[in-house]
Amino acid sequence: MSNEIYTLSGEQSQLILSVGEVAEILYYGKKLHHGFSSHNASSALRRAIPYGRLDVDVPVSLNPQLARGSFGSPGLEGHCNGLNWSPEFKIVCVEQKDHQIVVESCDERAKLKLTITLKLDQYDVLQVSQTLNNYGDKGYSVTRFANTVPLPERANEVLSYFGRWVKEFQQTRTVISAAGFIQENRRGRTSHEHYPALMLGKQGFSEQEGEVWGAHLAWSGNHRMRVDVKADGRRLLQAEALYLPGEIYLQPQQSITTPTLYMSYSNTGLNGMSDHFHQHVRHEILGNRVAKPRPVHLNTWEGIYFQHDPDYIMQMATEAAAIGVERFIVDDGWFKGRNDDTSSLGDWFIDADKYPNGIAGLIDHVHQLGMEFGLWFEPEMINKHSDLYSQHLDWLLAVADYDQPTGRHQYALDLQNPKVSAYLFERLDHFLSQYDIDYVKWDMNREIVQPGHNDMAAGDGQVHAYYELVDKLVEKHPDVDIESCAAGGGRIDYEVLKRTHRFWASDNNDALERQQIQKGMSYFFPPEVMGAHIGAEHSHTTRRTHTLSLRGITALFGHMGLELDPVKTSDEDKRAYRHYVSLHKQWRPLLHTGRTYRLTLDDECAQQGVAVVAPDQSNALVSITQLAMSTYSLSGVLRIPGLNEEKLYRIDVLDKPALLDDIVNCQPEWMYQPVEVTGEWLAQVGIAMPLMDPESAVLLAISLIG
Ligand code: DGJ
Repeated sequence: MSNEIYTLSGEQSQLILSVGEVAEILYYGKKLHHGFSSHNASSALRRAIPYGRLDVDVPVSLNPQLARGSFGSPGLEGHCNGLNWSPEFKIVCVEQKDHQIVVESCDERAKLKLTITLKLDQYDVLQVSQTLNNYGDKGYSVTRFANTVPLPERANEVLSYFGRWVKEFQQTRTVISAAGFIQENRRGRTSHEHYPALMLGKQGFSEQEGEVWGAHLAWSGNHRMRVDVKADGRRLLQAEALYLPGEIYLQPQQSITTPTLYMSYSNTGLNGMSDHFHQHVRHEILGNRVAKPRPVHLNTWEGIYFQHDPDYIMQMATEAAAIGVERFIVDDGWFKGRNDDTSSLGDWFIDADKYPNGIAGLIDHVHQLGMEFGLWFEPEMINKHSDLYSQHLDWLLAVADYDQPTGRHQYALDLQNPKVSAYLFERLDHFLSQYDIDYVKWDMNREIVQPGHNDMAAGDGQVHAYYELVDKLVEKHPDVDIESCAAGGGRIDYEVLKRTHRFWASDNNDALERQQIQKGMSYFFPPEVMGAHIGAEHSHTTRRTHTLSLRGITALFGHMGLELDPVKTSDEDKRAYRHYVSLHKQWRPLLHTGRTYRLTLDDECAQQGVAVVAPDQSNALVSITQLAMSTYSLSGVLRIPGLNEEKLYRIDVLDKPALLDDIVNCQPEWMYQPVEVTGEWLAQVGIAMPLMDPESAVLLAISLIG
């Protein structure tokens, strides 16, 4: 008898699910336009059964089970006091509604119910999640619970992330043959090291070409992502929250849901994939929460660090407003006794020594200047040197009798202790209710070691408790924007974004490093949620010096801000900041709604480029950055995809380094005299690349003329 066939369709992609004894994705790829019958779909893909193996065909189901002969990594691992360790789920019902299929199955012996939900939206983003319910009368320990999606055999290369503090979102490619691929994060937060995502395709897939399957696990704690190559050559992707020993124990009637796995298929390379994710983020995750233009920031951190003098900060605000800043954020250092990073986390009271008259005057001043006001918090953390620690030693996220290492001299609080979350909520709520605060920068500066609640492992619970705390705050203060920061980019994922408004992408404001960090982040996140600031001339993290032009053009392509002291800035530099701030304001409607195309340049070791094209293809903003010395004396051509092939466009140079013309006899002709070419010409033929010094950038505007 044929299996039941279900399909989900996006604009460009399609998923075909076969449901028989188990649910198996038969196909996830380019949308089919000419129909098929269920019978033929099943029979066309019915596999051979080789010798020397089990006598039955074993599908790569949505939840592979050893009991059914699946020898790879199972979708669920757990037991009930040593029993029911190899459950076998039988499908009970399948429901399809619009863009969603829900498959329910049960193991009646183990008294476990498994509900798998697949949703493919109009933006071509697939969401997969699973819920396990224990309907027996005994507890059930879960050690692993993963979302599983099969991949075609041709997906033999993985592009994955690695990084560290001040160097987030770095990427590496691995060819996956028999060995497969595995990535684990055990740092307790999303992590700088392994952003939870993989991009897979046929070896050599590029920005503009090739089939790509992108996958992101929306989860802010420990995770595991793996790609397995089975002995028969089939491949599968698994993505899961990584549980510490004993931490998931389902009491009778309790259930657990996996984090959502977000996937997208594209047959136009990585640019097609990231466009799907960007549209999904914009329409499904952010929605109206970011309806107004993203205000330009000035964040005080690198300008004054812990040196808080309200009069001086007001002067900073005045200067910031004159530059065009729209939101002024007072960073770390404003609360009781906080003079450096060794003390005071937990004591969320205004430092009366630094602010003898409180902060209301400062907030008013900022508002009178026409800017929004933001304040920094790091709610989850505590220093040993704090009043809170001396009063509540037992509030730590820890295991008694162990002396875990500190990180940035601090410990994490146990958010699952109701007294702790009540205290933190009260403190945050106090500030948001008492003062006219428009914005919270929510920081989280250490990794989690030994996350113990009542001495039991509780890394997973800590993450859920963090979500609950933010949700409660958002519910009470829905108009306050929140930035997710974790020593820069340590907590960036879709689950956080559901409750916040932007990310601090990195503590590294060095424009050269930022180019790469922002590029890496752009595969999954649109520019409007990517905090990108112009830092001081000397980068505080690399000590390198960069021109204002490189710093300005780099910060332009995100949610822009400044991270410096505008009081100690020369008039000339202030003029330049004003220039980039106003450029950003002029172009942000396009940048924050347009389609991002990372460009494939001829000298890709030395150059990087990005184009953001308006949704109606009427114009585009393009930056080309020279990262290092060119390989050759000429750099080939610049090709820009995404414009209307039939229409004519003019290319104007909007910004370039002051010395650009000094290093050459002459630049390409179009740099002196705007050139007019079709969208097709730009995509296929291109224009001659300028010659640029290392660590410099050029900004181009492309406008429709007919
Ligand atoms: C780390 C953040 O990433 C910085 O931007 C700044 O807020 C500091 N923490 C403050 O301690």
